[in-house]
Amino acid sequence: MINWSPEQPIVSIHNVHKSFGPLEVLKGVSMDIMKGEVICIIGPSGSGKSTLIRCINALNDIQGGSITLEGQEVHDEKLDKLELRKKVGMVFQQYNLFPHKTVLENVMMAPIKVLKESKVEAQKRALELIKKVRLDGKENSYPGELSGGQQQRVAIARSLAMRPDVMLFDEVTAALDPETVKEVLITIQDLAAEGMTCILVTHEMAFAREVADHIYFTDRGVIVEHGSPKEFFDNASDPRTKEFLSQVL
Ligand SMILES: Nc1ncnc2c1ncn2[C@@H]1O[C@H](COP(=O)(O)OP(=O)(O)O)[C@@H](O)[C@H]1O
Ligand SMILES: [Mg+2]
Repeated sequence: MINWSPEQPIVSIHNVHKSFGPLEVLKGVSMDIMKGEVICIIGPSGSGKSTLIRCINALNDIQGGSITLEGQEVHDEKLDKLELRKKVGMVFQQYNLFPHKTVLENVMMAPIKVLKESKVEAQKRALELIKKVRLDGKENSYPGELSGGQQQRVAIARSLAMRPDVMLFDEVTAALDPETVKEVLITIQDLAAEGMTCILVTHEMAFAREVADHIYFTDRGVIVEHGSPKEFFDNASDPRTKEFLSQVL
């Protein structure tokens, strides 16, 4: 029996070490995320952001430390990874929708196959989610008929259809045309406003400043700085953070 209550971190990352062969990519990373918080992870390319986020839903194993979700050790060998991934939704840069299925079918599929929901139930919920990501009217379109930003919002709806407790977003706007970035960020902002716990890797500084509760800056496998958006953007103290911000702001 796991003793977890919502006053405790929903995700707790403690001193995580991760290597790929001889390459140590995470060198003792820690962060605590409370239910309903929005966390933005910012940092140079190759600093281990994607690796960290993939450790949270056990797509990567770890060599040291611990990660708990709702008090449960994610890297426990006995933990059912499918159960874990039902609780932790993930959206990537590539949306990977099924091209020969409609928007509605894409969103309905996993709840029917994985959650064993009835077709009627899955469809009702899919229609709600499509509306939530502001794509009502596109239910019967195919992914190829949509813009990148619209497809990414379908991917978000598809992930939400699994009723996750936490959402991971890894540079979900990085491959989009600038004019469609905003609509995806608005969708994430809507989710955050509803209280979804969101962990995002992003280069969208204005978004991070506005929406994040905490910002973490990573460099070469360590967190060199973290704080509120105000502390981070106005008073960064580490030279690596300052250097990075001077290039992107
Ligand atoms: N599956 C893998 N096998 C070997 N090396 C990897 C693998 N995934 C990532 N890496 C390496 O880990 C480092 C961090 O990568 P990544 O977490 O993708 O960084 P970021 O997302 O911050 O750009 C890089 O040096 C990358 O080449
Ligand atoms: Mg990455």
